[in-house]
Amino acid sequence: DWSSKTMLETSLEEVKAIKGSKVLCAFSGGVDSLVAATLTQRVIGDDLHCFFVDHGLLRPQDIHHIKLLQEKTSLKIEIIDATDMFLNALHGHKDPESKRKIIGKTFIDVFEKKVHEYEKSHNVKFDYLLQGTLYPDVIESISPHKKGGKSVTIKSHHNVGGLPERMHLKLLEPLRFLFKDEVRAMGLELGLQHEWVYRHPFPGPGIGVRVLGELHKDSIRKVQESDQILFEELKSHKLYDSTWQAFTVLLPVKTVGVKGDGRVYEEVIAVRMVNSQDGMTASLTEVPWSFLNRVSSRICNEVKGITRVVYDCTSKPPGTIEWE
Ligand code: XMP
Repeated sequence: DWSSKTMLETSLEEVKAIKGSKVLCAFSGGVDSLVAATLTQRVIGDDLHCFFVDHGLLRPQDIHHIKLLQEKTSLKIEIIDATDMFLNALHGHKDPESKRKIIGKTFIDVFEKKVHEYEKSHNVKFDYLLQGTLYPDVIESISPHKKGGKSVTIKSHHNVGGLPERMHLKLLEPLRFLFKDEVRAMGLELGLQHEWVYRHPFPGPGIGVRVLGELHKDSIRKVQESDQILFEELKSHKLYDSTWQAFTVLLPVKTVGVKGDGRVYEEVIAVRMVNSQDGMTASLTEVPWSFLNRVSSRICNEVKGITRVVYDCTSKPPGTIEWE
């Protein structure tokens, strides 16, 4: 439509102004980084290089998505497999803020090392860091939550803050005047697939904040498998587009159940589905009981180690969207 065409022109102009520079992107495959990278690539082509850090805290749908983008778009996306590094760094940590900080720091370390290697072996020097920052992010960073005159951090959001200065990079943020729905419209204007542009938000620390407490390979597997079931059922019931986010969380609790003809003592998966405009506030998504029933029985039957599924019916506030 007319307005998304104009917005696209404006954003393209911004990239045109830095033509000739080498641009780097910490690509996540989410809507914002995809739209930002696509429009940048359109102007500067191969002068844009995207690195995707695989921290081992991804869902099956994320891995599938990134491979699809490598195959179907003309973006240069390089996957960095850093699973072991993240798991080692997180070993023994159960406090939510510590986990977030460790994930953020490891991300920066891995990314910076990889970029230096790339610069050396390709004999280039990156000038800009491309970020899919949106208008609400700009606003939030100017006026964080205030309490008694002091600003309080609810959660340390994982991002590449501090990285541009450290790596002597300038920032390229062609979406910083836009809201999410405008970015989505722009994505469609750029010819991106509807499904890519309407993906649910997924937090940077990924499953790291969806396994409560300490992370282990087997607990990550439980979230991956249960999330995949929820995802498949949302798609087949045509409910994916009617919720802002939908995901599963592993609770560090054991409960008694019965499977086959035996007693079991296994863990619990919580299903969280919320609607929101911008993630700042959220309300619980109303879904048919038959849907929940189906998701719950599939998770209990198919995910080893899970005997109980609960539905989280908390709004934000007081409950944040993610559990950690
Ligand atoms: P909360 O849990 O704070 O989440 O209510 C609000 C929205 O932000 C997402 N979220 C994150 N996104 N990095 C991100 O990029 C993060 O560290 C992060 N933590 C939460 C969350 O999924 C929801 O959409």
